[in-house]
This record gives sequence, structure tokens and C-alpha cells, in this order.
Amino acid sequence: MTVDLLLGLQWGDEGKGKIVDVLTSKYDIIARFQGGPNAGHTLEFDGIKHVLRTIPSGIFHTNSINIIGNGVVIDPVVFDSEIKGLEKFNIDIYNRLLISRKAHLILPTHRLLDAASEASKGNSKIGSTLKGIGPTYMDKTGRNGLRVGDIELADFKERYQALAEKHIEMIKFYNVELKYDLPAMEKEFFASIEELKKLQFIDSEAYLNKALKEGKSILAEGAQGSLLDIDFGTYPFVTSSNTTAAGACTGLGIAPNKVKQVFGIFKAYTTRVGSRPFPTELTNEIGATMAKVGNEFGSVTGRARRCGWLDLVALKYAVQVNGVTELYMMKGDVLSGFDTIEVCTGYEYKGEVIQHLPYNIEPENVKPVFVQKKGWSQDLTNMTTYDELPQELKDYIAFIEQEVEVPIRIVSVGPDRKQTIVK
Ligand code: GDP
Ligand code: IMO
Ligand code: MG
Repeated sequence: MTVDLLLGLQWGDEGKGKIVDVLTSKYDIIARFQGGPNAGHTLEFDGIKHVLRTIPSGIFHTNSINIIGNGVVIDPVVFDSEIKGLEKFNIDIYNRLLISRKAHLILPTHRLLDAASEASKGNSKIGSTLKGIGPTYMDKTGRNGLRVGDIELADFKERYQALAEKHIEMIKFYNVELKYDLPAMEKEFFASIEELKKLQFIDSEAYLNKALKEGKSILAEGAQGSLLDIDFGTYPFVTSSNTTAAGACTGLGIAPNKVKQVFGIFKAYTTRVGSRPFPTELTNEIGATMAKVGNEFGSVTGRARRCGWLDLVALKYAVQVNGVTELYMMKGDVLSGFDTIEVCTGYEYKGEVIQHLPYNIEPENVKPVFVQKKGWSQDLTNMTTYDELPQELKDYIAFIEQEVEVPIRIVSVGPDRKQTIVK
């Protein structure tokens, strides 16, 4: 009986999808607990690349049951296209993917509200993926939302209508130019609701706690990253859910004392899509090289990801907030070829160097302090054991472990399932 968590420790896109896929054979159940189709989790094996949005990354292993928990927000339209994309892989989706009745639904008008809100913000826009995430969580906490379980009610259409009409009034308030064809969006929405109905809806908290009692193991798959957490991230430039460890408890109905291991995943450098603070960002040739070699383009929006050196101040903060027990370092291969690698070990803040994340990490407030490490030139992508890795990389890993005080157990050296080195 175990619940382990797999969480991103940076601004998302750390490689959660790949690692969940690698770990799935050890678990009976893989469960998503927050976020929605703003996530893009990439898996690669047998020469094929898959990008999952709402569906947990355990879906390709026949041994696992995959659950979309109550903390997730589902866009039936995106979900339907995800299901259709999986058809050719012969996955028994109707028995292996279960959905919480308490998960909230993203309506077409939530997407419009997201667009209107961002357009109204001008230069201070969040850089949202525009998938309707913020407005849907607003309706959840405002106690107005529609849930998956509501689809089973006779008056679902009336409930939908009442909420959508309210949204249309709200969109007018933003006073921005927005072109949309709501009847077409609604047609698509209701068609996808019919498809969603073919899946099994469950009371997922009851299902998961029963599974635990029966001795089953669960891996909770985080989406986004700790620095995008609504409470602990770089607010307001964050997403609208708790991406950190506690979110797994509220997003699945699992008590904190059931959680055993917390696996924290981070890139050997840092990336961020979307707006604002990123202390170690490199807007020079080095950052451009990282982006090119690391193929740093958003899996959802295709936007270029901003790149920079590893930030240990932020990493330590994320480790602390989540109670990380093991670290997994991704994309080590991308750093091959740099003579020197820099690591941020502190922030210059109000005339002193601090090692914690202050309230505001905008450039006018903090300046990163770097130490230099020797780089390596070897191509890592065909290496399969820890011993083979260059000494400079081992030194880099040892330095991070010493600073963060948590062991690094996995070093990933390429996007494929097989390019995973266990230390
Ligand atoms: P997630 O959102 O955390 O699941 O991460 P994404 O899938 O959005 O982004 C990670 C990207 O890096 C994907 O394109 C992966 O295929 C790729 N990737 C994962 N691990 C590695 C690695 O160790 N090396 C390289 N070069 N690419 C990796
Ligand atoms: P995965 O799970 C990277 C970012 C957006 C924006 C902010 C708010 O693939 O790691 P939202 O759509 O939630 O309103 O966007 O959060 N963002 C992500 N960045 N990876 C993600 O997911 C993200 N999901 C949201 O770019 O800055
Ligand atoms: Mg992603």
C-alpha cells in the first residue's frame, strides 16, 4: 500500500510524462490530481512521440488503471481529441481510464473568458495557455462550476445554459474585441459530452481509498510545476491550482499520512513559458543554444520556452514545500558542449545575499549569484549506466545533492523511455 507523488519542481515541462511512463510498471494506479489541458506531457518509445493533456501518462502500460481525479478540470472537446488520438494504439480506454464525478468541466465560455481576461491585461498578461483553466477554477471556488457528475443529471443542459449566459455577460465587462462563434463551439462541446459519457465515471476518492486498503499502489502525477502553484508560485504569473504535494491530497481525496515518497523532477537547467520573473534567464547565445538543443518549444502551444541556468534557490524552495524525498534530473544531455556551466546559489537582495525565495523575485528585486562548474563535451544520449557519465557531470550532480540535501536517483539523457539512467 503506497501513494507516491511525482511533481515538477520548476515552471513545468520538466519531463513528468516521460518519468511517469518509466515508473508505471511499478504501480497499479496512475492518477492526475490537478490542472487540465494546459498540461502537455510527452512520452517517447518505439520511435513514437505522444503528447498527453488530461489523460495520465500511465495509459500505455496495460498493467495500470488511470484516474482523472476530482482536482482536475476537463475540457470534453480536448479530451475527445485525446481519446481519438489513442484509438490506433489499441488501448482498452473504457476499462483503464476512470474519471472522478467531482472533476470540473471547462465550458467553451471559460475559454472565451480566459481570452478576454488576458486581452484586457495588456503588458501584464499571464501568458496563459488560454485553455480556460483560470475561469474554470474560479467557478469551482466560487461554487458555480459544473462537474462531470452533473452530466448524468436530467437538467444538465439548463445548468449549462445558465452558467454560459452568465459568462457571456462577464465577457462584455472586459470590453475587448473577441471573435467567436458560440453556437459552433457549443455544438462541438455537446458532441464531446456524448463521447465523454462512454467512459466510466467514479467516486474517485472512494475508489482510491478502497484500492489502498486492498494493498494497491498509486502514483500521483503532477501537472505544471511548483513555481506555477497558485499559493507558492510566482503569483500572479502562475496557474490556478495547487501543483505542490498538498494538491495531491485535495485533488484525489488521499490523506497526507498515506503519502510515502515524493519524487521531484527538474531539468539540469531551467525553462519557463509564459510571462515574468525568471532570475536565471539567459537572453543571450547560451540560452538560445539550450532552447535549440533541448528543443524547448511548448508541447501545447508551440511557444518558445525561455531558458536559463539551474536555480538552486528556487529548487531548494520547491523541495521544501513538497517534502521531496528523491530527485530526478532531466535533460542532462542538453548541457553537453558548454565549457562552463553556471548554477545560481543565491540571490542578491536588498544589499545581502540570501538563499531563500523572497516575496518578489522580479529583476528589480533580486539578482542571481552564480558559481561556475566545469562542463563536459561527451554525447550522453547513448549512455546507459551512471559509471559511463563524464566526471564533470557527476561533480555537477554531487554539487546539487550537497546543496539541496536530497539524493538524485535518476539522470535522464534523452526523451526516450530507454534513455533513463538509475543511479
Ligand atoms: P512535462 O510537461 O513535464 O511532461 O514535460 P514536456 O513533455 O512538456 O517537456 C519535456 C520535453 O523534453 C519533451 O519534449 C520530452 O520528450 C523531452 N525530454 C524529456 N526528458 C528528456 C531528456 O532527458 N533529454 C532530452 N533531450 N529531452 C527530454
Ligand atoms: P505541464 O504539465 C509549462 C503556464 C502558462 C502560463 C501560466 C498560466 O506540461 O508542465 P494557464 O493555462 O494555467 O492559465 O497558464 O502557466 N503553464 C505551463 N507552463 N508547462 C505546463 O504544464 C503549464 N501549464 C500552464 O504558460 O505562464
Ligand atoms: Mg509539458
